[in-house]
Amino acid sequence: MMKAAERDLVELSDLTAESIHEILERANAMCQQTYPLWSDDVRHVGLLFTEPSTRTVHSFRVASARLGVDVLEVQVGSSSLVKGESLADTARTLEAIGAGVIVVRDREDETARILSQVCRAGIINAGGGVRAHPSQGLIDAYTLLEEFGDLQGKRIGIVGDVLHSRVARSDLIAFRALGAEVILVAPPHLQDHSLAVEGVLIESDLDAIVPQLDAIQMLRVQRERMDQDHLGDIEDYIESYQMNLDRLKRAQDSVVVLHPGPLNRGLEITSEVADGDRSRIFAQVAAGVPVRMALLERAFGKVE
Ligand code: CP
Repeated sequence: MMKAAERDLVELSDLTAESIHEILERANAMCQQTYPLWSDDVRHVGLLFTEPSTRTVHSFRVASARLGVDVLEVQVGSSSLVKGESLADTARTLEAIGAGVIVVRDREDETARILSQVCRAGIINAGGGVRAHPSQGLIDAYTLLEEFGDLQGKRIGIVGDVLHSRVARSDLIAFRALGAEVILVAPPHLQDHSLAVEGVLIESDLDAIVPQLDAIQMLRVQRERMDQDHLGDIEDYIESYQMNLDRLKRAQDSVVVLHPGPLNRGLEITSEVADGDRSRIFAQVAAGVPVRMALLERAFGKVE
């Protein structure tokens, strides 16, 4: 059985490219997994989400059910968090009750890493601050592998509110591990130049970049993480960065459009694109189940 630190998933930068490949291969195998993996043994997964979620929390629920694992879910408003209990004590309480793995989402960047240090249970980061959303990064890589078979040499644009996006940070690690080139396209006030490492380009002119891309990951404008004026003029943003049919016409015929959700329809993406034939947005959601099954299996230490 793997040691706790090895089976935790805090950030994709903690994993080797080989580990990322192994998880994605295991996720592929999970599509054939139709029976409970651990029918002989009752196990529990703790779900500890202090930020809202639809896709992530429910796909971890479904993944748990398909593995034959019970869920212990903390509802923030009716839990002892409102009485001042810390997240670390809440996680250790779930662990003491029987959670072998705890899935955590929190507004602070470091919460999953702190829990990884204080809990014996496996920890899976389901989104931490603006820094990491590793399971989403793996899902997006999985979706593109299903589309292209191989990401070696592919050019993937990650477009929009890069500054506030934990998805962008995890995506670029996953995409680079699989051999893709990443172009981060954002207006200057929503860009993060510290992400410009080897194989990652920083650009601001979306219209110039679109024809070069094999895949386009549109990012949600995260107004809840911005000061009131940070976005600037919405019409200017739409004019330069919205993915709409006119802009998509500039792309290669084979391009695919992703978005991690939830969508701000009419802002970063139009419904015509989101629901169109180049969109793989609901394929991303569907991929959440096998990828998270593979992560739960790994976190329980079942992978040798
Ligand atoms: N992509 C994503 O994390 O979606 P949710 O916030 O709905 O979980």
